[in-house]
Amino acid sequence: MSDEKFYYPPQHIIDNAHVQDYDALYKHSIENREEFWAAEAEKLEWYKKWDSVFDYSRKPFFEWFSGGQTNIVLNAIDRHLQTWRLNKLAIIWEGEPGDVRTLSYHALNREVCKFANILKGMGVRKGDIVTIYMPQIPELPIAMLACAKIGAAHSVVYGGFSVEALAARIEDARSRVLVTADGGWRRGKVTDLKSIANEAMRRSPTIEVCITVKRTGHDVVMENDRDFWYHDLAALPIASAKCDTEVMNSEDMLFILYTSGTTGKPKGLVHTHGGYSVYTSTTHRYVFDIKDEDRYWCAADPGWITGHSYLVYAPLINGSTIMMYEGAPNHPYPNRWWQMIEKYGITILYTSPTAIRGLMRFGDNWVKRHDLTTLRLLGSVGEPINPEAWRWYHKVVGGERCPIMDTWWQTETGGFMITPLPITPLKPGSATRPFFGNEVKVVDEHGVDVPANEEGKLVITHPSPGMARTILGDPERWATTYWSDFAKQGYYTAGDSARIDEDGYVWVIGRLDDVIKVSGYRLGTAEVESALVSHPTVAEAAAIALPHELKGNAIHCYVLLRNNITGSRELEEQLKEHVAKEIGPIAKPDAVNFVDALPKTRSGKIMRRVLKARAQGLDAGDISTLEE
Ligand code: WT7
Repeated sequence: MSDEKFYYPPQHIIDNAHVQDYDALYKHSIENREEFWAAEAEKLEWYKKWDSVFDYSRKPFFEWFSGGQTNIVLNAIDRHLQTWRLNKLAIIWEGEPGDVRTLSYHALNREVCKFANILKGMGVRKGDIVTIYMPQIPELPIAMLACAKIGAAHSVVYGGFSVEALAARIEDARSRVLVTADGGWRRGKVTDLKSIANEAMRRSPTIEVCITVKRTGHDVVMENDRDFWYHDLAALPIASAKCDTEVMNSEDMLFILYTSGTTGKPKGLVHTHGGYSVYTSTTHRYVFDIKDEDRYWCAADPGWITGHSYLVYAPLINGSTIMMYEGAPNHPYPNRWWQMIEKYGITILYTSPTAIRGLMRFGDNWVKRHDLTTLRLLGSVGEPINPEAWRWYHKVVGGERCPIMDTWWQTETGGFMITPLPITPLKPGSATRPFFGNEVKVVDEHGVDVPANEEGKLVITHPSPGMARTILGDPERWATTYWSDFAKQGYYTAGDSARIDEDGYVWVIGRLDDVIKVSGYRLGTAEVESALVSHPTVAEAAAIALPHELKGNAIHCYVLLRNNITGSRELEEQLKEHVAKEIGPIAKPDAVNFVDALPKTRSGKIMRRVLKARAQGLDAGDISTLEE
């Protein structure tokens, strides 16, 4: 084992880390999985302890801590109010225009109670699903926590999504109540969320009540009897700052979060109160080595799983002070993030390779003007980090003092699955080793382990407590998508290809399915294609991902126009705008090519692989199923 290939964490970080011996604890956690997780669960509050730690009698459906009763809010807020953390800052929030709000745990509790009472007053009951469509303002985590507190599930739709994406998610969840805002600030401009929400409500009519938080103050259309301003409701006597936390079973639904897959319809993954609380808080504490004096910044949007698990829930359970920022990293200048790290004394920064590459582009001086010596640990998530970006992050941002936690996980897993600890020797570009309790393998199509350094399918051998339990309304799809490839072995298929090197380090290569990772955001080719064919000029469409220096993936589309319509530069622009309007700006294609035919199999499936190979000037491989 040559030493040069590793980056070693500084000694003082190793000395102070929660976990001192990865190998020993890992071995224990695999050999005594239930014992390991029960010991972690003991660190949280329960209204009633569980009867069984793990129940796998209905494979591939599983339960953790069944018979137990808790509520994530009991751990994220209530228990802190009994301690000195009552007056500790829970949230430091900065708006893009520079306005600042801070909330102690005491203040956060009051806001959550008020919001919870308003939701109740609007008829929200235990088990309902409330859709939340908001910019990054404190009311977003407040609304999430308020739902959880009263036993309603939330479905947060990322504020960067647009009409069709929002409408489809409202409809799938059959939400009666929508929480939104007039807009938010992004690059000096107002994002008009309320107009998008209005259009989505027109398309999917299940919403009876829409609560709107005033953020930007621009004119918006409010409909009588359906639309209410949050501040009007908050002034009513129902909005008291006291509210009991609902007693939930471990396996009761906490939230659903939609993610893209191979078909057009997004999957609403169901996460639960008990196992998710245990898993996210444990991973967060050990991986980011959380101490009470930390100021922790997860720069993801709460609208994604990273925001749910590691901006909102895990840090609050661990009693951390979280930083939250509304806007763009380069507004008004590319030093905005570095300025805030210096100003607030941030100790841990968790972000994505895309954000790092984007900021790296502006050069070192924007960073070097700021004193970032409070930083102790860095994190990365969303896509493989290229070694060049890793080194820049390590050297320029972290001043060579801060180990980088490259965390591999998914919306489905709820929390980190493969990740370093602060004590782990690092290799740039590798997420290193599995977290406790997880066995990870790289296998061939028969489920047999491939030799070291060979590429194969990434699988997880056993359900972990933080994993989703099912897909809303479609348990069959949960079983077939994730648990059927290697049903005999009982493996979970992640949908990624990877290799494991001679040191047992995992290198994730990328998606095997039709998922595109644009700037770390997950989109399905089918979603882009269905947006394209919803345009009156388009007959058929195919979307593929091509490598992109900054965004990881770029979206390239191939479009077959309807009879008598010819392609043009203007139409190309129109189609790009159309996709951005239907799904959201992140889905805007980089290129739209007009073609006379699409490569298809004899059964009519588009062979995206062929398009991709051709676009890259590569050999398309086996095309025996191609219809001529
Ligand atoms: C997919 C899951 C988990 C929160 C954000 C994304 C890719 C994620 C890494 C990483 C290499 C990564 C995988 C995975 N991915 N983290 N550290 N290294 N690839 O969640 O939208 O559910 O996407 O993101 O391809 O399958 P998601």
